[in-house]
Amino acid sequence: MELSDVAVSIRGLRVQRGSTSVFAGLDVDIPRGAITGLLGPSGCGKTTLIRAIVGVQQHAAGAVTVLGEPAGSPALRRRVAYDTQGASVYGDLTVGQNLRYFARVIGAGAADVDRVIDQVGLRAQARQRVDALSGGQENRVSLAVAMLGTPELIVLDEPTVGLDPLLRAELWDVFRGLADAGTTLLVSSHVMDEALRCDRLLLLRAGSLVADTTPERLLTETGAADPDAAFLALIRRADAGEDAA
Ligand SMILES: Nc1ncnc2c1ncn2[C@@H]1O[C@H](COP(=O)(O)OP(=O)(O)O)[C@@H](O)[C@H]1O
Ligand SMILES: [Mg+2]
Repeated sequence: MELSDVAVSIRGLRVQRGSTSVFAGLDVDIPRGAITGLLGPSGCGKTTLIRAIVGVQQHAAGAVTVLGEPAGSPALRRRVAYDTQGASVYGDLTVGQNLRYFARVIGAGAADVDRVIDQVGLRAQARQRVDALSGGQENRVSLAVAMLGTPELIVLDEPTVGLDPLLRAELWDVFRGLADAGTTLLVSSHVMDEALRCDRLLLLRAGSLVADTTPERLLTETGAADPDAAFLALIRRADAGEDAA
């Protein structure tokens, strides 16, 4: 990848959390202007990697460069948005009140609030309290918060967890619209079938990159019918390789 095409570059990342070594020297690049899926089972290190990218994860070694700057540097505050696992909006405020509050925090204007409400399709719910919304609508509120100020990179940790298939599809349509407009998205999930929605895939298992690929290549190279089967095939292949070594 050309340097200008890289949104996030990670070299030799080592992270220790408690007594667990989560990453023991991870190298990976994430392209600009695309949706990269960070996929893998619970506990494989998705949240830890995301925390390293947004600059809140202490690491023992390695370099994490985001949009050309060291992760977590003040210059990135407006350029990178992070939607944590679990909604982070206020239930007792309306959709509009939440967005106006967060817009004030980052110095975004009223026009920006209107824009993100329309982009996530919550115009009809703008005056409703968040605790009266469905789970999918609530997720879209926190996505709208992440979109305020037009960040170049949006990092979303399991944004579709617990949503029914229809709502998941709606959210992925929003992600696609953002990527088409040039935003870089990093979206984590432990649900393998979301792989097909991404442009690029990073498959993690126990802190190791099992594959850095595309949905098409994942299926053709494994000959599997779906991403779940493909992931299993890759793991079996990796394990067989380790046994042979
Ligand atoms: N605060 C913590 N203290 C100690 N270990 C942790 C902590 N948070 C996560 N871990 C461990 O780090 C590993 C990766 O966790 P995490 O990044 O949360 O995975 P994922 O998001 O893929 O479910 C797991 O083994 C988990 O048990
Ligand atoms: Mg997690």
